Amino acid sequence: ASAGRRRWGWNSWNHFYCGISEEIIRETADALINTGLAQLGYKYVNIDDCWAELNRDYQGNMVPNKRTFPSGIKALADYVHAKGLKLGIYSDAGTQTCSNKMPGSLDHEEQDVKTFASWGVDYLKYDNCNDAGRSVNERYTRMSNAMKKYGQNIFFSLCEWGNENPATWARGMGGNSWRTTGDIADNWGSMTSRADQNDKWASYAGPGGWNDPDMLEVGNGGMSEAEYRSHFSIWALAKAPLLIGCDVRSMSPQTKTIISNQEVIAVNQDSLGVQGKKVQSDGGLEGMGRPAQRQQKGGGSM
Ligand code: GAL
Repeated sequence: ASAGRRRWGWNSWNHFYCGISEEIIRETADALINTGLAQLGYKYVNIDDCWAELNRDYQGNMVPNKRTFPSGIKALADYVHAKGLKLGIYSDAGTQTCSNKMPGSLDHEEQDVKTFASWGVDYLKYDNCNDAGRSVNERYTRMSNAMKKYGQNIFFSLCEWGNENPATWARGMGGNSWRTTGDIADNWGSMTSRADQNDKWASYAGPGGWNDPDMLEVGNGGMSEAEYRSHFSIWALAKAPLLIGCDVRSMSPQTKTIISNQEVIAVNQDSLGVQGKKVQSDGGLEGMGRPAQRQQKGGGSM
């Protein structure tokens, strides 16, 4: 799957859940441009769960929801591509997706990847619900093979929630990122616990494949400005995919300031790509660090 260094953008789930439509996706693409966020590198516009009809068509193809995505996914891909952006989509390594029972891709892997590629999709988030009692290894290997055949240019984001230590095997499956945690919620405790669970896999991250402690909640209202600033900084240091999870069409100036901080973004995107980790913990105060340049032989350790 395609690596690329620009592994960040926006995803619909943390703010909209199943309440998505093609207008929201188009307006979000417009907003990424108008706010200057796209210019900073937020290029992926990622559609999460709930974009499809509950049934496949008579040939077994997935079909965009006729009410909420009447123009189809190809039209959306064309729309965002014309703006220099990329389009992401979501499917599931099981019989049905997690929330509204749209079809999963289990046993339809090649057909679905071909469909996504024909629509011009650039990114696939691959979830883990309704596994039909089959192993993680079997189900993700099937999609990995389909992606290697028909999805070479599609970023492969595994959403296995960290259950079976995907940091140790997802890169071998062509994964470009893998969730190391269950779902984040919009509060300090949830955010810091994602960060902690993600921390122990630091040595597995590097160019082409990244630990993913889940998407950003910055701007969704459940944390203070200082907490959101910490959230964004920790994700940047952890080399996590920076996927905005708020409504960028109506975000506050404070939210925009946090996610537009170029020095913080530069930490996330440095060319070495070493994940920062906890280096200090002292009575509730914690410090994170990471090397910013390749170290000389015999140089210090981190
Ligand atoms: C979860 C996943 C979330 C979101 C949701 C959609 O399994 O971790 O990020 O994609 O499914 O139903």
